[in-house]
Amino acid sequence: MKLWRNARLATLADASGWGWIDKGALLVDGQTLRWVGALPDLPPALAARVTDEVDLGGALLTPGLIDCHTHLVYGGNRSDENAQRLQGASYAAIAAAGGGIASTVTATRAASEEDLLSAAQQRLDTLVRGGVTALEIKSGYGLSLSDEAKCLSVARRLGVATGVTIQTTYLAAHALPPEFAGRADDYIDAVCAWLPALHAQGLVDAVDAFCEHMAFTPAQVERVFIAARALGLPLHLHAEQLSLQGGAALGARMGALSCDHLEYLDDAGVRAMAASGSVAVLLPGAFYYLRETRVPPVAALRAAGVPMAVATDHNPGSSPSLSLPLMLHQACTLFGLTPEEAWRGATRHAAQALDLAASHGALTVGRRADFVQWDLDHPQELAYWFGHNACRRVVVGGQERS
Ligand code: NIG
Ligand code: FE
Repeated sequence: MKLWRNARLATLADASGWGWIDKGALLVDGQTLRWVGALPDLPPALAARVTDEVDLGGALLTPGLIDCHTHLVYGGNRSDENAQRLQGASYAAIAAAGGGIASTVTATRAASEEDLLSAAQQRLDTLVRGGVTALEIKSGYGLSLSDEAKCLSVARRLGVATGVTIQTTYLAAHALPPEFAGRADDYIDAVCAWLPALHAQGLVDAVDAFCEHMAFTPAQVERVFIAARALGLPLHLHAEQLSLQGGAALGARMGALSCDHLEYLDDAGVRAMAASGSVAVLLPGAFYYLRETRVPPVAALRAAGVPMAVATDHNPGSSPSLSLPLMLHQACTLFGLTPEEAWRGATRHAAQALDLAASHGALTVGRRADFVQWDLDHPQELAYWFGHNACRRVVVGGQERS
């Protein structure tokens, strides 16, 4: 067993506080934390089983960060649309003119699985170099059975190749593909019909949909969710990002693990989420990049006890960022989270949003040995510095990433 010693541990082990342990040590058995504590307390029986030691020189060590909302697999990029937006075109107007998600769908369909894999692998490596040790990856740029399968398969292969925990999410209800123009309900039928086959191939861990005026109605989303629940699959929802549609209340009523974005969430939605235990996943990168002005109702979510997570929403159209630490900074500066809330949002609450709460998100015995060494004195500095990478070392499942 390997002993990582002489660390200042912020374990995030408890429901509040940093969970500090001075002169901290972690004993790793394979992929799992076998013991966590102050080194003088290490039981002799375990000390006798140490085969390898690393002296961390008093550095700050935390749980690995968890990015619980990404669209990491896609072809091409949309820097041309960014230039149009800088000339005054809106995100919605570009989408209405056939750009937006549709342009990424065209590029994704044209790309081979190997090309998608190598592009997504590079993005994953960048996320990991910023401290991410687990993430969710959505499909949603294929929008046909074979192209959704191709993207989900890339997400699965990334997990196998890297050892990073990856939860896959089926997001075929992301946009209406051109071959279904004017036939949204027929497309929803197809989305529901494709799901069992993809699930049977082991490609789907959860199901998501985009509930928005430019995407799908709550009634259409509900049909997708019923198909998902029939297979026992957990739910996420893109809800109330650009307008209030009542998606969060629907998601909560159907037991969604998370409702995400939530800039336009109303009090009824907050109450519904509090009652259901759904996690509110906040995505400040999309808010920033789309130059939105309405912030999610953080004070109401906090008062109602809704757990808040923070994620990158990495995608080519509304959040082309690959830095989860930057999102923690933005969640504080733009949305008013405290540094501790932002951290909890990218560790324990993110794990809860992915149904990984028992195994990920904190440094406690029995959890996965996913941890990060930082060039920081205190974790709250992630909410302070921005634009540089303070991540020094990343350990995923007990293995140091080079
Ligand atoms: O999460 N909101 C929907 N989907 C993405 C944006 C997708 C795109 O523009 O390509 C999001 O922001
Ligand atoms: Fe998203």
